[in-house]
Amino acid sequence: MNHFLSIEELTAAEITALLEDATRLKAERGRHEQPLAGQTWAMIFTKSSTRTRVSFEVGIRELGGFPMFLSKNDIQLGRGEPIKDTARVLGRMVHGCIIRTFAQQDVVDFSQYSGIPTINALTDDEHPCQILADLLTVKEALGGWEGKKIAFIGDGFSNMTISWMWAAKRLGFELAVAAPTDYQPPAEFLAKLDAPNVTVTTDPAVAAKGAHVINTDVWLSMGQEDQQDKEEAFGPFQVNAGLLAHAAEGHIVLHCLPAYRGKEITEEVLEQHADVIFQEAENRLHAQKAVLVALAKR
Ligand code: CP
Ligand code: NVA
Repeated sequence: MNHFLSIEELTAAEITALLEDATRLKAERGRHEQPLAGQTWAMIFTKSSTRTRVSFEVGIRELGGFPMFLSKNDIQLGRGEPIKDTARVLGRMVHGCIIRTFAQQDVVDFSQYSGIPTINALTDDEHPCQILADLLTVKEALGGWEGKKIAFIGDGFSNMTISWMWAAKRLGFELAVAAPTDYQPPAEFLAKLDAPNVTVTTDPAVAAKGAHVINTDVWLSMGQEDQQDKEEAFGPFQVNAGLLAHAAEGHIVLHCLPAYRGKEITEEVLEQHADVIFQEAENRLHAQKAVLVALAKR
């Protein structure tokens, strides 16, 4: 593994190895190795972030390195300097780069032009760091995903859903996506995914039925804030007590956060499941440290 750009390009063995190392790093926090000693890792963010920024800054420091946060307005990228030029400059100065932006192609281009390990910290196409943390949480809370049904209720073709669909493809668990008709994964994507274990429905109750994990995310992702008409289609896709009545006994609820109470999830459900949801947020740190260690070793 030279970069960490998507769940799509990972193998099952790579995902499970990263999760095992995340579990180890979590247990050994404060006394594990520091493979980033003497290194500087840049963090280019063109979208807002709480969890991703803080977990990477803390994680890089705990592994001995120095994080350099660069919002798009701090650097010439924000004034139109091409990503390939930014990449060739940073590639000569820092040891790795973490990028949160819009186009997946920008992250791919950065990895190719910089020649340094590059991590996708969220694009419009994937949120691989989050899915790694979510899988770690499923492992901790339920012992694993084998024989488990995971439901995703909400936007059927967001970065979160796409990464979950690739995780299901690679790891083989049952994933049921419930989304409004106009926000389902397109047929071409599902043909490329080619995963009979991934089903798509317009009925949230069908997806939630017997599910061990109920997962949701914002209805309007970053960059879509002005698409109020999109939100109108999502009313029946709220994760609330009524929907959870269909889930399996002992189910958990996941939300990558930030959460919009009264929209994709109710206050009641979020607070009832807060222990696991904030464990999921904490797991960003441990999962990403495993990615950093793997890239430092390459
Ligand atoms: N879940 C997540 O990526 O959160 P931030 O946007 O706060 O980083
Ligand atoms: N789908 C959301 C995830 C936020 C962590 C977004 O892109 O805004």
